[in-house]
Amino acid sequence: MASAIEIDRLAFAWQGDQLTLDIPQWTVEAGETVLLRGPSGSGKSTLLSLLAGINVAQQGTVQLLDQSLSDLSGRKRDKFRADHIGYIFQQFNLLPYLSALDNVLLATQFSPKRRQRVAASGHSAEHLAVEYLQRLGLTSTQLHQTAVHLSVGQQQRVAAARALLGAPELLIADEPTSALDSDRRDDFIKLLLELSEQNNTTVLFVTHDASLGQYFNRHVELSDINRASGGLAHA
Ligand SMILES: Nc1ncnc2c1ncn2[C@@H]1O[C@H](COP(=O)(O)OP(=O)(O)OP(=O)(O)O)[C@@H](O)[C@H]1O
Ligand SMILES: [Mg+2]
Repeated sequence: MASAIEIDRLAFAWQGDQLTLDIPQWTVEAGETVLLRGPSGSGKSTLLSLLAGINVAQQGTVQLLDQSLSDLSGRKRDKFRADHIGYIFQQFNLLPYLSALDNVLLATQFSPKRRQRVAASGHSAEHLAVEYLQRLGLTSTQLHQTAVHLSVGQQQRVAAARALLGAPELLIADEPTSALDSDRRDDFIKLLLELSEQNNTTVLFVTHDASLGQYFNRHVELSDINRASGGLAHA
């Protein structure tokens, strides 16, 4: 595989003609771990949503794992995301009335590919989900609590476990440690790095936490790749 992420002449505006993103070219190689930084409101989450095919750029192309996202219908993009991308949303996106464990298992329920990868590990999805949640510090009681009854930091750890289950090729994490204390943050980084090394996962990780910098191959400032700044298009 040539590259995990390949952006070419991408332009995206939420509304009107003010560009949030104007990225001539950007590549992330398979297996790279990239830390993405930028001020609040600069377009980091917007970029991640385009990479995951949740939103579609008005111009240009986004290729993920050699697949051009704009060539896929909305439904196929959803399937592609379920199969290939572990996404930790800034707002977690858990189903509030499912338990922590069932939220994690959603990752494999929507993706035969992720079920196959779990099966190849020789463990059940439930076994791995419990292992990840326990390594992230959830107790056996908390595993069975509905997400709505978990603390924000616990919900964030459930979202992290869900993104990791089934060894997706690409992990996209939008400030995934923002609600964690330093011990929980270290547990998460350890699990993330261990699994991504094992599976040659490409990692794109947004964080403001400078202490995490050491863990990544490459640091990127959004302003270094994005010609639109503060929502204003360049002349
Ligand atoms: N759903 C949306 N509809 C309209 N505008 C949006 C939407 N989401 C984001 N924006 C706008 O796009 C710009 C970039 O927002 P984005 O959420 O991508 O920034 P960010 O870099 O992730 O910020 P933060 O560090 O605060 O999470 C902002 O000006 C924001 O108002
Ligand atoms: Mg954001």
